[in-house]
Amino acid sequence: MRTAIVYYSLNGNTSYAAERIAKKLGAELISIEPEQAYPAKGFKKFIHGGKSAMKNETPKLKPYSFNADGFDRVILGTPVWASNIAPPLRSFIEENRATLSEKRIAAFVCLSGSGAGKAMEKLKACLGTDSLEAELALIDPKDKPREANDKRIADFCDALIGC
Ligand SMILES: Cc1cc2nc3c(=O)[nH]c(=O)nc-3n(C[C@H](O)[C@H](O)[C@H](O)COP(=O)(O)O)c2cc1C
Repeated sequence: MRTAIVYYSLNGNTSYAAERIAKKLGAELISIEPEQAYPAKGFKKFIHGGKSAMKNETPKLKPYSFNADGFDRVILGTPVWASNIAPPLRSFIEENRATLSEKRIAAFVCLSGSGAGKAMEKLKACLGTDSLEAELALIDPKDKPREANDKRIADFCDALIGC
């Protein structure tokens, strides 16, 4: 199964998880970034990103290379922002809607506390699907390493390997 992991990360937790998953699955990593970066620290980080997520914004992305024909499966990764997906991932989905509808889709979210379920529902609504191949939620896997995250990553990868 040729798998791409497309993810956005502001502070490194989602990219950390993406790298771990890529290593286990032999997947290709594709990082997306908005042309205009969100503030990465302080109060501004939560105000700007939170507002943008609540408004379901789709910021313009920096150029990225995603050759959809090369993949059977796409794993989408995003931090949870205001119980929603981060806007750059929404942009990616909008830009690749037709292609994504032909792929197997799995997803993971990183968060610090609550809102994973709501964010996952919003991700599915954005994709226009009721279910994903596999789902995963991790609590700040880079900043707060813990066995529970490692186990969840392993289970997620095993589920995909079994598909
Ligand atoms: C704008 C913004 C909104 C956030 N909203 C939530 C939230 O609703 N629930 C939550 O548990 N964590 C929230 N967080 C924390 C991040 O989801 C969490 O720290 C995540 O692991 C960060 O991933 P990253 O390091 O890849 O950016 C928010 C962070 C930011 C910057």
